[in-house]
Amino acid sequence: MDKKVIVITGGTTGIGFACAEHLIDKGYEVVITGRSEENLNEALKKLKYKATGFISDTSNLSAIDELVDLVKAKYTKIDGLFVNAGIFKSSGFEATTEEIFDETMNINFKGAFFTTQKFVPILKNPSSVVLNTSVVVFKAFADTSVYTASKAAIESIAKVLNLELASKGIRVNIISPGVTESPIQQKSGMSNEAIKNLLDHFSTISPIGRIVNPKDIAPVLEFLVSENSLVLRNEKIIVDGGTTM
Ligand SMILES: NC(=O)c1ccc[n+]([C@@H]2O[C@H](COP(=O)([O-])OP(=O)(O)OC[C@H]3O[C@@H](n4cnc5c(N)ncnc54)[C@H](OP(=O)(O)O)[C@@H]3O)[C@@H](O)[C@H]2O)c1
Repeated sequence: MDKKVIVITGGTTGIGFACAEHLIDKGYEVVITGRSEENLNEALKKLKYKATGFISDTSNLSAIDELVDLVKAKYTKIDGLFVNAGIFKSSGFEATTEEIFDETMNINFKGAFFTTQKFVPILKNPSSVVLNTSVVVFKAFADTSVYTASKAAIESIAKVLNLELASKGIRVNIISPGVTESPIQQKSGMSNEAIKNLLDHFSTISPIGRIVNPKDIAPVLEFLVSENSLVLRNEKIIVDGGTTM
């Protein structure tokens, strides 16, 4: 039987990378994307060149078109799409600039919106789209106002897509991770001390006694792209070790 093909945007580090590693291990054909060539090369090396990688800035619509063309040329159609590429810039509401607003919304929401739209023609029937949002959508965290809005925006369209894309056999579900230790914290503008405090806090309050790891999210993605989730629509699976219950 042919391997199932899953595209993971932002698959070069953190959650996307762990998901790529897991899916390859489970026999899937995986495509990863990212912006940084260095990170992409490093990721492909760590994956023992068992994945296909493309540089593609998810906030750039022509780049998404090119990505879809490249994936189509190699695989014709795909079985699943993990809309995962995203950024977080720590910024208090009053200090948030237009630049941070636009960058966050362009990558996290506009990018997710148009990536999903542009992949529709090459998604099989049946196929699975999984949107990566965050627990910030339902639990308030200071210094995350634009990030929270960008993730809430993604969640808000999932049910609409499930209506419009149902006839094509496309299901859309959501993974909502809690604070997960990944390179996103270093890129956020937070100090090392603030990152340590954040991770320590969530390790301490977590019923699992530790911080969530990107590898914790991978089996959940595997379920959502597998036929075991064929009848799920607009489900949100919170992967946070119970920190927000
Ligand atoms: N870690 C958490 O606590 C947490 C919690 C909830 C949700 N999430 C979500 O999980 C997703 C992955 O985050 P992560 O924690 O794994 O962080 P990460 O390690 O920083 O991974 C982010 C990935 O997205 C890529 N990316 C960023 N901007 C991009 C763009 N414009 N175009 C294409 N790729 C882009 C990055 O590639 P480059 O390095 O090349 O830019 C990288 O591969 C994000 O959507 C994030 O919001 C994370």
